Amino acid sequence: MSEVRERWTSRSSFIIASIGAAIGLGNVWRFPYICYANGGGAFLIPFFVALLTAGIPLMILEAGLGRKMQAGAPTAFAKVRPGTEWVGWLSLMVVMLIFFFYPVIMAWCVNYVTYAFNLGWGADTGTFFEQDFLQLSGGPGVLGGIRWPIVAGLAIVWVGIYLCLFKGLKALSKIVFYTVITPWVILVIMVIRGLTLPGAIEGLKFYLTPNFSMLLDGKVWLAAYGQVFFSLSLAMGTMIVYSSHLARKSDITNNAFIISLADCGTSFFAGFAVFSILGYLAQAMGVAVPDVTGSGLGLAFITYPKVISLLPFIPAFFGILFFLLLLTLGIDSAFSQIEPFVAGITDKWGFNKKLVLPLVCVGGFLVGILFTTRGGYYWLDIIDYFANTFGLALVGLLECIVIGYIYKAQKMREYVNEVSDFRIGRWWDVCIMAVTPVVLGVSLVMSIIGLIQHGYGGYPTWATAVGVVVMFGIIVVSFVLMSIRGRTITAEVP
Ligand code: PHE
Repeated sequence: MSEVRERWTSRSSFIIASIGAAIGLGNVWRFPYICYANGGGAFLIPFFVALLTAGIPLMILEAGLGRKMQAGAPTAFAKVRPGTEWVGWLSLMVVMLIFFFYPVIMAWCVNYVTYAFNLGWGADTGTFFEQDFLQLSGGPGVLGGIRWPIVAGLAIVWVGIYLCLFKGLKALSKIVFYTVITPWVILVIMVIRGLTLPGAIEGLKFYLTPNFSMLLDGKVWLAAYGQVFFSLSLAMGTMIVYSSHLARKSDITNNAFIISLADCGTSFFAGFAVFSILGYLAQAMGVAVPDVTGSGLGLAFITYPKVISLLPFIPAFFGILFFLLLLTLGIDSAFSQIEPFVAGITDKWGFNKKLVLPLVCVGGFLVGILFTTRGGYYWLDIIDYFANTFGLALVGLLECIVIGYIYKAQKMREYVNEVSDFRIGRWWDVCIMAVTPVVLGVSLVMSIIGLIQHGYGGYPTWATAVGVVVMFGIIVVSFVLMSIRGRTITAEVP
């Protein structure tokens, strides 16, 4: 079959779409938190090392693979060597786990936009989030019924995702400009608001004061690599499918640098919005900055609302703006998780995308309902941990092995150099064949040891075991999907 592959309307749409995929909820709550927990300003050193030795090389690998093979992840790997197709499916299984819960966090944001109008979260934002909003059950063993407001938010998010995708790449090429520029404008407003508050400087000092002694700790380096992978949306099939829609003769290396640096710059910038405002909160409460710093999701849904209520001037406006920021940041990441999955199916079996897309959206919504239950929060946390810790490292490692050793790094590099604005040297082969797989391998082994020794997050052993079963399950499913016959795969695209 030789249907014409859809194309981005311009080089900039591709770049903007990829930046949109990379910039997401992770930039606002994850980076600032990881940064201050791992040495503040000094963390920027391992972060940039990780970016140069693993983030950008793997981005070049994925973009090169997608562009050359002109297909989504499974078919692209099958074109390298048929037996490696499962690696592509595995990346889609990992991204599937993520798109089951990522829209749920966005659904919380939808609800919080409505609360912001009258600062409905009250003074005790922690109690509000856990007991009034999520209505947490005692643990993962008790699902405790569905929280309907969250389901309603989830439905809105999934309809949004579907509407962005159903018209295909031409429409998407335009949509991404809005979904990337809007959060940037809001972020600039939030940074200005934050920096002009009393106490902001204290917050920034805390964010950026370097603690160089922490660089001796291996965990800090692993955190840097983990953050780079998560933030650039690598090992998820996203970059492969986005680049498969690039026309012949489009650049790879320059694009990869632009996308990666834009994403990391945004993370760094978002830290100013977050920490200036935390400095203000600390001052208002008369405590030190570390005492107000929420971690992870608590930062966005507990700490930030608390500050917003304290703002001297039109707090509701900034509350609405903040949650709209999260929503607009999240939406292009969310659809960049659906696209590779849909393309994986349509590329292999030639099904009509008009049919597959709605089915995937409805399926994602239905499974997502699990995370809207009163015990759903715990499951969200568990699945997030397994997908991001094990799934990501495993897929990244396998990608390096398949391209570095089976396809041969040198061959990929020569291909990439032929079409790109500038050439990459042998350092790239070293990164793909040695540095990245070693770091990923070590972090995988360390995470497994940690899991065996301490379990995860204080959950009962059986709940962690479910996570392990899910991980093994997706590996088995990847092999099963590979073994189902699809369209005949023709030789590599020249
Ligand atoms: N990188 C996105 C973020 O920072 C998350 C993401 C994961 C997007 C997987 C696409 C695929 O939030």
